[in-house]
Parts: sequence; C-alpha cells; structure tokens
Amino acid sequence: MVEAVDANDIINEILEINWDEPVKRNESSIQSKVARVFNATQKATFPSIKIDDDSFYEEIQKAVYDPHLAKLIFAKLQEQGLDTYEKYLGRGAFGKVFQLEGTRTFEGKKLALKLLPYYSDNDYYSYWSTSNKITEEGIRGDALALTLPKGCHLNRAYAVLTFDGKEVHYLEELDPQLHKGHVVIGTLSRAIQGGTLGERVTKMPLSSEAVRGYGKQLAEALLGLHQAGYLHGDLHGGNILVKGEKEGKSPYRIKLTDFGLTHPFTSSDDMRWEWKHFGIILGQMALKTDLEYNSDLNDLLLNPEKGLLAAEFCYTEEAILQHPFFA
Ligand SMILES: Nc1ncnc2c1ncn2[C@@H]1O[C@H](COP(=O)(O)OP(=O)(O)OP(=O)(O)O)[C@@H](O)[C@H]1O
Ligand SMILES: [Mg+2]
Repeated sequence: MVEAVDANDIINEILEINWDEPVKRNESSIQSKVARVFNATQKATFPSIKIDDDSFYEEIQKAVYDPHLAKLIFAKLQEQGLDTYEKYLGRGAFGKVFQLEGTRTFEGKKLALKLLPYYSDNDYYSYWSTSNKITEEGIRGDALALTLPKGCHLNRAYAVLTFDGKEVHYLEELDPQLHKGHVVIGTLSRAIQGGTLGERVTKMPLSSEAVRGYGKQLAEALLGLHQAGYLHGDLHGGNILVKGEKEGKSPYRIKLTDFGLTHPFTSSDDMRWEWKHFGIILGQMALKTDLEYNSDLNDLLLNPEKGLLAAEFCYTEEAILQHPFFA
C-alpha cells in the first residue's frame, strides 16, 4: 500500500530547512522533499489549468524545470493579463528572461520576466535558487529590485513571483514578516531594448565619448545602490543593459540589472572590490589607444597610487564620480 502524504507536513519541513547551508547530496535530499511536495499537492489540491499558449508554457517549463510549477506560474501570469509572450531576451547563469507585452497597468510597455529555477537535481543550482528565500531578516537577491531607489539607472522591478510550496503569488511589495518562507521564482521589470553592454563592446569598439557616457551612468548606478546600502556583487557586461535611443536624450544610457547576488555591504574592502570591477568594465570598453592617450582615463584606471586597476587603495567613490574623466 502507498503511504499517504500530508502536503502540509512536507511544506512545513521544507520551510524549516536552513537554506543558507550548502546542500549536501546525501542529506535526506531537499530535492526529494520538494518533489514530494509537488507530487502531494498536485494530487491533492490543484484543478487542471488551461494552457492557451503552448510555446510560452514550454519556455516557462524549461526555465523552472518543473511542469507543475510551470503551470502555476502560467496561470498566475494569465490572471494578471501577462500572457502575451513576445520574445526571448536572454539568459544568465541563473535566470531566463522573456519579453511580454504589458497590459492593464502596464499598457504600452514592454516587460521583462526573469524566471529563476526553483530546484534541480544539481546541488549547485539548488543551493543558489533556494538562497532566494524570504526570511524574517529581510529580503535579498533579485527581490531587492522591488525596493531600489528611482532615478539612478537601476533596473527596478515592478513585481515578483514567489512560491510558498503550494501557490504562486504575484506581489508588488514584499513584507518579510508576511512572506517569510516564500521563495522568489521570478521578477517583472521593464524590458530594455538595446542589448547588453557586453554585447555592444564585442560588436565594435566604442568611441571615447561612449566610454565616458556609459561609464558615468554606471558610476551613478553604483553610487545609488551603495547609498541604499547594497553591493551589486556581480558586476559584468551582461548585467548592464543598454537603453534604446531617444530623441533629446544622451545616446549612452544604461540600466544596471541582475540583483541575484546583491547584499548589504559590510566593509570598505567590499566597496573597493566593486569599484575595481567597475574599473575592469571601463578598461574593457576603452580601446587600448584610448587608455594610452586619454590622460584622464589613464589616470582613473592606471595611476600607480590611486588608479582603479593599479592601486590597492584606489580612488574613493566620491573621487571617482568627480574625476576629470567624467567632467
Ligand atoms: N529587463 C531586461 N530587458 C532586456 N533584457 C534583459 C532584461 N533583464 C535581463 N535581460 C537579458 O537576460 C540576461 C540574463 O538576465 P540576468 O542577468 O538578470 O540573469 P542571471 O541568470 O542572474 O545572470 P548572471 O549570469 O549574471 O547571474 C541579461 O544578460 C540580458 O541579456
Ligand atoms: Mg546576469
């Protein structure tokens, strides 16, 4: 006889797991617990869900690895009027990102839905995906995008999707008390149309003007994030989105995105480390000749006492923003 499974017991068990600890393979396996929850809840409570758009549903399933969770996500998006899939925008080590047509409050906007894998058979991924769990201590990772300051080139989120072991929720605000135990499985933000800065740099060399323009916006974005108390933690060309051109605006506009590894900063070492990554991105954007002949850029990056790439105790945040290269 098959043993009856109580879904609530298993959910409670999962919610008690300390997700901060790396998952060990032989440790009564989180994956098998999660799988049991899905099986139990699937049998017990869920009505069948009608899928109108097979291709989008399939994309969701590939992103989250679980057909049942994919159905719940799809149903929640449908409920919000967010089921018009337009195209695939990209992927990183964790997420897959799709463009949706905005409806209702998002009428006329293009939206980016980033879906995170909830769990997989691979310990590495299950560790990272479960680090998106909301605890009483607060919010971290991708969900922080809900709370980021406006007006400093940060790709804020309009909403997140969470999973509480039973249901998928669409939330425009998160309250650690109310939502503790939820795992963030998706974010919804504005779709940015110009590709990533990494792609742009590999396509063709940037002019000095472009290096200065993008660099300045990136410095402002980092300043805004740091002033809010956070370190980005994953600064690279794939996490910097280039905005489409708009009349009357600078042609070099960006949005810093992907807050999956964002966390409160604790020391000035953290801060220096992040600005060194900023220096690497500036160096990647600049042509070798620019580095040699543009004395301001050369100073910012290579000054032996203060340069971001040359000195251990490099320019401070304020000094970087006021540096003559950005004047
Ligand atoms: N709002 C957006 N508008 C347009 N494209 C986007 C948007 N968000 C993400 N993308 C695309 O999707 C890719 C992956 O997104 P993101 O960097 O958030 O995922 P990730 O898996 O956390 O990445 P990483 O490997 O850096 O951890 C980006 O590099 C970019 O190409
Ligand atoms: Mg990324």
